[in-house]
Amino acid sequence: MKQRTLAIIKPDAVAKGVAGKIMARIEEGGFTILAAKLIHMTDAQARGFYIVHKDKPFYASLCSFMTQGPCIPMVLEGDNAIARWRDLMGATNPANAAAGTIRKDFASSIEANAVHGSDAPETAAFEIPYFFASLEIHPR
Ligand code: CMP
Repeated sequence: MKQRTLAIIKPDAVAKGVAGKIMARIEEGGFTILAAKLIHMTDAQARGFYIVHKDKPFYASLCSFMTQGPCIPMVLEGDNAIARWRDLMGATNPANAAAGTIRKDFASSIEANAVHGSDAPETAAFEIPYFFASLEIHPR
């Protein structure tokens, strides 16, 4: 089943200069990048994006991390894209991430964990339009 997911190459990975390597893994993984842009989020934008975590102890620190530099949100499309992108990313905490996953290879900590991916279709339905207008998404 063809599906779309929202991916973000986070500020730690952009700052390290590994965004291109991560995009290569995305393309090699059989995903089509339908939209992508480099943005530097404001605190309000980060807080809105991660609103589901507003009561978590790491919320303030997470929002501060996500605004420390530019990040690259993308819309990925492919068969079973939500679960497959999560598999390619690896576990949230890189200490638990499997060999060969993006987080194992590029993440620094549970917070600075290189990439983000929607965790369910309903989440993708909120996250994709959070960053992209329909005219910025290029089906093909
Ligand atoms: P992400 O997949 O973007 O979803 C929420 C983010 O919060 C997570 O990746 C991490 O960057 C960050 N985070 C920081 N601490 C934790 C934690 N203890 N558990 C889960 N996520 C955390």
